[in-house]
Amino acid sequence: MREPFRNEPFTDFTQSDAIAEFQAALRIVESQLGREYHLKIGSDYVETTTKRKSINPAEIKQTVGTVSQADTEHAHRAMLSAAAAFEQWKRVAPSARARVLYKAAAILRRRKHEFSAWLVYEAGKSWTEADGDTAEAIDFMEYYGREMERLSERQPLIPLSGEDNELVYIPLGVGIVIPPWNFPLAIMAGMTMASVVAGNTVVLKPASPTAVIAAKFVELLAEAGLPDGVVNYLPGAGGEIGDFLVEHSLTRFICFTGSREVGVRINERAAAAKGDQRWIKRVIAEMGGKDTIIVAEDADLDLAAEAITASAFGYSGQKCSACSRAVVEESVYEALLEKVVERTQALVMGNPAELSTMVGPVIDERAYMNILKYISIGKSEGTLVLGGGKGSSSGYFIEPTIIRDVMPYAQIAQEEIFGPVLAFIKAANFDAALDIANNTEYGLTGAVISRDRARLEQAREQFHVGNLYFNRKCTGALVGVHPFGGFNMSGTDSKAGGRDYLLLLTQAKVVSERF
Ligand code: SER
Repeated sequence: MREPFRNEPFTDFTQSDAIAEFQAALRIVESQLGREYHLKIGSDYVETTTKRKSINPAEIKQTVGTVSQADTEHAHRAMLSAAAAFEQWKRVAPSARARVLYKAAAILRRRKHEFSAWLVYEAGKSWTEADGDTAEAIDFMEYYGREMERLSERQPLIPLSGEDNELVYIPLGVGIVIPPWNFPLAIMAGMTMASVVAGNTVVLKPASPTAVIAAKFVELLAEAGLPDGVVNYLPGAGGEIGDFLVEHSLTRFICFTGSREVGVRINERAAAAKGDQRWIKRVIAEMGGKDTIIVAEDADLDLAAEAITASAFGYSGQKCSACSRAVVEESVYEALLEKVVERTQALVMGNPAELSTMVGPVIDERAYMNILKYISIGKSEGTLVLGGGKGSSSGYFIEPTIIRDVMPYAQIAQEEIFGPVLAFIKAANFDAALDIANNTEYGLTGAVISRDRARLEQAREQFHVGNLYFNRKCTGALVGVHPFGGFNMSGTDSKAGGRDYLLLLTQAKVVSERF
């Protein structure tokens, strides 16, 4: 009997042993920076003439790795490789497929700090954010392995005399996995390995800013015994190979996490069936958020300030789950704002390789310019009370920023900024706060801070988001505990890390035999 799933514990960085081990991992990874990474198609490592440098967003002069870039010809080869591997992989027993995930999880657990150190250098994550990302990757593999074993048990059907009936979940085929750069290990590994454990094969197009961490993971999969061709590693520019992969007639499904703009485009392209296409493609898309924490007048304001600060500025607000709007009942607005400002001022911004750093850089120049643009818009839509400026010019640093008295339909109250920018919005009462919380095109996460049962029950029913939290932060969903995914333009509500997820990557077949 396999042990039940348990979440991987987070590392306690108050312990000197853990600090020393993490520092050692950082040194090892630092000594490996600047290497070259190539495509992996089947068993071939393919070097291309076009290459892209992945850089450390905290030290933009530092190259993390140089990565070969695929063109459409490589993409076509990767599709053929995945399609060929599917013919074998789909016949491997679900329990044997699951064992590859358990083995990969075990290797990752042994090399946890090393992988987290790559996240520090390539994604600009603080130690605790990196440790959380790695723990979540381990969780996804342990969880989906067990889920596939559960799904492969015979489903109870209503008995019919004289007949033997059976329902089995079979794989779909070749999937395109397009992960984001903000959880470049957890979400990348989660989408890839959920597809794989269900019996599918994959073309993995990593996010360009974090292609090295994905290459390291693909190396780990070979060590775990995953056959060649089951996961094909295909870094490349979205503009060059994205549409080609989505539109390819061998593509059976697309598993995407990223922006609303790209998600909608994928959905449109996937819907148009080509002449030689034999199926309707499935799209699993997790997109943006414009997430709100409502603070009621009866709330514990210290708890509210803590929840808002953590949700707004953890990983510099670069999470689809991040709180970018605090919607506060009028009578506690000033007192709460003061507490949030105080806590935000105490956040240490700096190089994430330092343990003391709580807020690191944003991912790249495009994000940096976009966030600064929104701060400038915000200054005209409300009053800047904290931050607004750039940090050290060694990287893409932006100060945690708070803008007060923002109107509910202002641009910074409606559009996803994906950076450390928090809008404070005043609500006349709790009903008005809920109306504001529901006034965007998104519906991913949200939180309510209140001691009043009636208010919480009202929010439970009316606050329209996929992941709603009470009296806590709105980030940090745990695999198996908080299945994750949102409504409306936040995506297809796929609930990653939940019992429904593998159903999206399989199809049910019923066989009825008359005796
Ligand atoms: N699952 C992450 C969170 O809950 C976001 O992708 O913060």
